[in-house]
Amino acid sequence: MKFYNNVLELIGRTPLVRVNHITRQHKIKATILAKMESLNPGYSVKDRIGVSMIDWAEREGVLKKGGTIIEATSGNTGIGLALTAAVRGYKCIFVLTDKVSIEKNRYLKALGADVVVCPAAAKPGTPDHYVETAKRIAHETPSSFYPDQYNHPANPAAHYATTGPEIWEATDGRITHFVAGIGTGGTISGTGRYLKEKNPAIKVIGADPYGSIFKTYKESGRVPEPLPYLVEGIGQSLPVGNADMKAIDEVINVSDRDSFEYARQLSRREGIFCGGSTGTNFAAALKVAETLDENAVVVFIVCDTGEHYLTKFHSDEWLKEKLLLEPQRITASLIAETKNGSSPAELVFVRPDETVSEALAKMNGHGVTQLPVIEEGRSVGSVRESGLLTKLLADRGLLEAKVGDIMDKSFPVVEMDTSLNEIKSKLQRNPAVLIEDFKRITGIITRADVLDLPG
Ligand SMILES: Cc1ncc(COP(=O)(O)O)c(C=O)c1O
Repeated sequence: MKFYNNVLELIGRTPLVRVNHITRQHKIKATILAKMESLNPGYSVKDRIGVSMIDWAEREGVLKKGGTIIEATSGNTGIGLALTAAVRGYKCIFVLTDKVSIEKNRYLKALGADVVVCPAAAKPGTPDHYVETAKRIAHETPSSFYPDQYNHPANPAAHYATTGPEIWEATDGRITHFVAGIGTGGTISGTGRYLKEKNPAIKVIGADPYGSIFKTYKESGRVPEPLPYLVEGIGQSLPVGNADMKAIDEVINVSDRDSFEYARQLSRREGIFCGGSTGTNFAAALKVAETLDENAVVVFIVCDTGEHYLTKFHSDEWLKEKLLLEPQRITASLIAETKNGSSPAELVFVRPDETVSEALAKMNGHGVTQLPVIEEGRSVGSVRESGLLTKLLADRGLLEAKVGDIMDKSFPVVEMDTSLNEIKSKLQRNPAVLIEDFKRITGIITRADVLDLPG
């Protein structure tokens, strides 16, 4: 029989996969390889340190049968710890910030962990900060182990012992550049140290979100004022113990927009379904590779799976809300679906045989100033509050007139996939456009609905 004794034996030995279409499009001569950490049993690079930190605690006698593991995490370390805890019978409490995706939060609970959520805006060192909260809970919980992934030596040690050798062997020692994000710094420091020992000419490059401190810190030793960004799991507002800046040659900043765009491209065009920090790494890898020749081999880390972010940047609705979707990808159906929060709005309209007074009551009731006139799913005209009131001033008797007898021409009709630019141009000459799907009018877009959209 061929089987593994438990899921922990599946951790590591992840493959390298070449990126093809995107590198060709960018005229890259170097080979760019993705280290598929998303194929670990907990779908991230952090499975490796979940086991290594718990192994350490068991060896040192810090964690005993029935003990509780408590950690501050952006989710993936929690998942790695929870996998090991499930197999070995420990309890877990994880402290996240409210920036962490709901998928990771629920995943942790599904693995049996308790989850506490803190505000991402809390400053380091203040009682509400997620790290301080985890420390406090650990202090108050008997038989607890607080790994502290930001400082625990078993974190970079796991990558020194496994990730580094795997990359070295899989590339036959031909790797020239290694690119990874810096969260705790464990991946980049441990892997980077191993690779540089093998060949000091290998360049280790940190991919860092704009707003994080690492680029300025590496280049000047100064810690700048951090700014918020949306990518999860990487970047810091203060230096951390496991981010060994000596193991890193260069830090490249990447915007949220590029991180998400490249994560989506890796998924769509290469089938490498990944999270936002992978997009950050890949954007930096492309930048590095621009000037390299065909002898160069650039390896970047695929930190985790895109499944953790299906309600975030892998959804057009979320990107649109964050003003991160390119204008050409914002379509009529997306605008209509997302205009009133997340629930698709019901179309309000009048029929031609309704009276002017009924039309005015509808406008009033729904807080709108115009209505399409619809008959059997088709648009036959339109009415506007201002126009009706002007006509009523001249002849009050029109209140009982039929809408069909006094209506103006129909608003323009567009298809579901009509672009934002075309819709905006129509809205310059008309107060609203209607959306048609399978020959029926299903939605309306007014000027107010596109005001805040880019383009
Ligand atoms: C999604 C994601 N990417 C990257 C990282 C960074 O890895 P490291 O902490 O080893 O620097 C993390 C760490 O939490 C993460 O959750």
